[in-house]
Amino acid sequence: MFRLITNQMIVPNIHLLTLEAPAVARQMKPGQFVILRAEEDGERIPISVSDWDAEKGTVTVMVMNVGITTDRLASLETGISIPTVVGPLGNPTKIEKFGTVLCLGGCYGIGSIFPIARALKEKNNRVFTVIEARSSYLFYWEEKLRKVSDRIVHITRDGTKGYRGHVGRLPEIIKSFQEPVNRIIINGCTFLLKRGSDVSRPLGIETVVSLNPIMIDGTGMCGVCRVTVGSTTKFACVDGPDFDGHQVDWAELLQRRKTYMKEEVIPHRTSRCEEHARKS
Ligand code: FES
Repeated sequence: MFRLITNQMIVPNIHLLTLEAPAVARQMKPGQFVILRAEEDGERIPISVSDWDAEKGTVTVMVMNVGITTDRLASLETGISIPTVVGPLGNPTKIEKFGTVLCLGGCYGIGSIFPIARALKEKNNRVFTVIEARSSYLFYWEEKLRKVSDRIVHITRDGTKGYRGHVGRLPEIIKSFQEPVNRIIINGCTFLLKRGSDVSRPLGIETVVSLNPIMIDGTGMCGVCRVTVGSTTKFACVDGPDFDGHQVDWAELLQRRKTYMKEEVIPHRTSRCEEHARKS
């Protein structure tokens, strides 16, 4: 069993969970993920890791409350134990001296891009971090990111901080750096990964995305996380989660991610409506 040390809603809809998982924390590397289960008969869900402390034996993740299972995780009380924290899973993000790297994170990816930016900085890269959200109140960990970045840039859809719009603003942001960007690394929702890759393709900058398909075992056995990259079938859990964003079959991935929408997301939203209706 794995004790939950912290469960804090860090911004609306995103919960920071810190779990005691010493064996996992000891081996964790940037870009890897864990599979969590909130209860014995619960669903297994993959979550990118945002930080860890090998000495304390803890692992920190950002859980975005979007469906029944993430809602259960988000509602867990501090101090209780959960049955499953499996990891580290997946291959670490490739970290070497690339030159200038743009790290882009949105929603839970603002957290999971942090250890990647930190590791890149430790390798003496120039690190420009771009974080994206609907509005400024949805940003978090800005100070942590600032410490490992040469520059931090914000994009908000409502224009309340930084550039107004979405990742379509990347070309002008890159131009404003006044130096070539050698690599882009993106963490966040599938839409952000796809849009970021679409925008960077014409710029000819190698773009690495951390894919987030539905998973079950996370060890290459079930086939659920199948994705197509460069016309080849890959399993995101063991071949990824990082892939070349310009080679991913995004239409297939977006379609496969909808498989359990009816069972997972729609009842969650419906029950929330009922809950609000009851309270009003
Ligand atoms: Fe089962 Fe990847 S989650 S093969």
